[in-house]
Amino acid sequence: MNRVYITRRETFNAAHKLWQPNWSDEKNQEVFGACSNKNWHGHNFTLFVTVSGAPDEATGFVMNLKDLSTLIRREVIDHLDHKNLNLDVPFLTGIMASTENLAIAIWNILSPKIAGFGAELEKIKLVETENNFVEYYGNKKPF
Ligand code: NI
Repeated sequence: MNRVYITRRETFNAAHKLWQPNWSDEKNQEVFGACSNKNWHGHNFTLFVTVSGAPDEATGFVMNLKDLSTLIRREVIDHLDHKNLNLDVPFLTGIMASTENLAIAIWNILSPKIAGFGAELEKIKLVETENNFVEYYGNKKPF
C-alpha cells in the first residue's frame, strides 16, 4: 500500500493553570512556576493532526482535508477555543490541564472519527509556545 501522511493545522486559544490540589501552594509554585498562577494565563495553541492512508483512486486523496478540518473544528476546536481548559471543557474534567494530557484527549476524540473516513490517525502535535510542544502517537511507535 502506498501509505501517505497528510497533516491539517488548526489554531485556538485557551486559558489554563497547572495546579495540583493535593499539594501546598509552595509546592505548586515550585513545580509549576508561573503556570500555577491562580488567576490563569493563556496560550495561542497550534494543533497539527496527521493521518495516513493510501490515496483514493478517484480523488487521489488520503482523506479530503476539508473533511478533516471540519471534523477537527467540530469535535475539538469549538470546545476549546476561547475557553478555560480547567473549567469549561467537559472532556478535560478531572484531568490536569497540561499540553500532554490535552494531546491525549484530542487523540481519543479524533481517532475513531478519522477511522470512519477510511484513514488512520498517526500523530497529534500540539504547540503551546514557540519553544514548547508535545507529540502523541497513540500507542504506536513513531518511527
Ligand atoms: Ni500554560
